[in-house]
Order: sequence, then structure tokens, then C-alpha cells
Amino acid sequence: MNFKVTKTDKTRIEGIDWNNLRFGVYFSDHVFISRYKDGKWDDGAIEPYGLLPFEPGLCTLHYGQTIFEGLKAFKAKSGGANIFRPDMNVKRLNRSAELVCIPTYDDERLLAGIRELVKLDSKFIPGNKGQSLYIRPVVFGSGHFLGVTAASEYHLIVMTSPVASYYAAGLNPVKIMVSTDHVRAVQGGVGAAKTAANYAASLWAGMDAHKRGFAQVLWLDGVNRKDIDEVGAMNIMFVIDNELITPSLSKGTVLAGVTRNTVLTLAKEWGMKVSERNISIDEVDDAHASGRVNEVFGTGTAAVISPVGLLEYKGKEMIFNDMKIGPVAQKFYDTITGIQTGEIEDTHKWNQHVDF
Ligand SMILES: Cc1ncc(COP(=O)(O)O)c(C=O)c1O
Repeated sequence: MNFKVTKTDKTRIEGIDWNNLRFGVYFSDHVFISRYKDGKWDDGAIEPYGLLPFEPGLCTLHYGQTIFEGLKAFKAKSGGANIFRPDMNVKRLNRSAELVCIPTYDDERLLAGIRELVKLDSKFIPGNKGQSLYIRPVVFGSGHFLGVTAASEYHLIVMTSPVASYYAAGLNPVKIMVSTDHVRAVQGGVGAAKTAANYAASLWAGMDAHKRGFAQVLWLDGVNRKDIDEVGAMNIMFVIDNELITPSLSKGTVLAGVTRNTVLTLAKEWGMKVSERNISIDEVDDAHASGRVNEVFGTGTAAVISPVGLLEYKGKEMIFNDMKIGPVAQKFYDTITGIQTGEIEDTHKWNQHVDF
């Protein structure tokens, strides 16, 4: 696919502090952009990253008809870059689109646009351990009106951002607060969509957790506040009696994580016992009390694997694996990051390679 490419005449690269990248602070020079009008998406084009012409009546500002994705490109050992499982993100973007009445986008066109963008801005891909080019597609209603209805015009924009590891702690275990006062999603809602509302709903508890020294919030189900859903920006996995257990996706309240799928696929291949099922906080508490919890860790694109060293639930602290990285978390981390950079053979064809 050929896209119209308009290059910037002023690169942003000089403004980047490569020794202090952090997460999502810097943006690369270009975006892939496509506009929906009169019932169809245009072909998409590459344009300079910059201001967009919107009015205060922009519908998405009012009603939040916005979806997004997060994926990464890594410097490949053999040269060029590997984009990790972008097909999964594009599929999930379209599932999110359906949940909030946004017109879906052609998978292949979006994948081609992402590859083209990564290639054009390849000088923004950092190469140190844990670093990558974060790719953020966003789609939002871009008509101007105040009626509560689905928009008739949309923008799809893919931007990229050179990033370091998501947590300052790196692969070190994080402390997580189990929220009992707030809920993120309910059955019948939009918890399975990567849509703005879920993140807005999570901010209060997230800030409270930060103030109290926790990295993130663990969300329980919205009705009984017992079954575990997920963490703020990660799915959650428990290794109990050497069985890998993660909440199932069937209630529609949990994001279908790409890393979650990657971990479950590898675990099954490695012969681990794997269960996707309901798991309540009481079950974890009991298993912890009887010393049966081997490890707890989160999975997500930003951190890949994030060991959970401590869960606080109703004032009680559960410490896992002596606050140390466990062998299971370490093996998933090493394997997945090895595949992403090309140091480990990609037998599943998860990487889409971009030459430059
Ligand atoms: C709410 C939520 N759950 C889970 C995840 C992990 O998903 P993935 O592995 O696709 O990054 C994310 C991150 O995107 C998230 O925001």
C-alpha cells in the first residue's frame, strides 16, 4: 500500500533526553492519519505530528467516544525493527470500536500505515534494554455537535513515542492496592474496550494508591467486589500450587491483553497447568495464608511482566515471594523480551519486521 507522505521540515529529535526517556513524554516526527466522513474512511496518509483543527464543540470532548491502542516496536538484533503482534492490537481496536459505535478500520491498511510510520521515524527507536518505540493509535469522533449520539465523522491517528520501561522499578516487584471503594467496569459496560471512559473512571483510585505508595490498583468485579478483574494497565496472573491462574474474559469486564495471550500461549507450550477462570480476592487471601501462592505478576505491553510483591486488601498486606522476582515471572520476561528483540527465535511469527 502506498500512502501520501508529507514530511516535516523541523525534526523533534533534538528535544529528546535519551538518558531520561520515561514513558510517553516525547513524540516522534510524524503520524499516520485517516479521516472518516460521508460513511467511509479515506486512504490514510503520513503527516507531520502537530496541531489539529478542532472547535470546542468537538463531540469526543463531551461524550468520550474515543478508543486507543498501545503496542511497541523494538530495535531488532539483526537490524531494522520488530513490531510485536500488531495484528492483535488492530483486531482489539476494531472490537473496541464496535463497543462504542465507532466505524471499524481495515486491518491491513492500518498495519501497513503503522509499518510505514515506524520506518519513516526509525531514528526515534531507542536501543537500550527495556527501551522501545511505543505506538499509540487513537480513534475519536471528530464532528462538532452537542447531541448525545454517535459521531458521523472520525479521526484515526497513530503517533509514536520513544519510551523507557513503564515502571521506574523496572522488573522489580511492585506494591498494589486492591480497591474496595471504587470499581472500573461492570458486566454489560465497556470494560473490555480500550476506551477513554475506563481510564477516567480509574484515576481517582489510581491517585489515591500513588499517594499511599502503591504503583497501581487491582480492580474487583463491580457488583460483589470479590472477583478479581485486572490491574490499572495490566492483566493479573497468580501462580498458586504451580498452576497459572488468570481471570477469564467471559464477563466482558477485563481487557483482552496481548501480553496475557502471549503468556498463556507460552505457559501451555511449556507444559504449565493454566486456568482462565473466576478467582476471588478471598481465594488469593486463603492461598496466601496457607503459603500456596508461588508468584503474582501483571502482564502488559508497557512493562511486559511486572512482579507483584505485595497486595493490600482491606488494610491487610499479603506479601508474595518475599517481594522478589519469581522464576516464572523472570522466565516469561526473558522469553518475551528475547523474542521482541530477535535474540530468541520467533517461532510463533509474532513479530512484524520493518527494514530500514
Ligand atoms: C486496563 C488494561 N488491562 C490490561 C492491559 C494489558 O494489555 P496488553 O498486554 O495488550 O498491553 C492494558 C494495557 O494496555 C490495560 O490498559
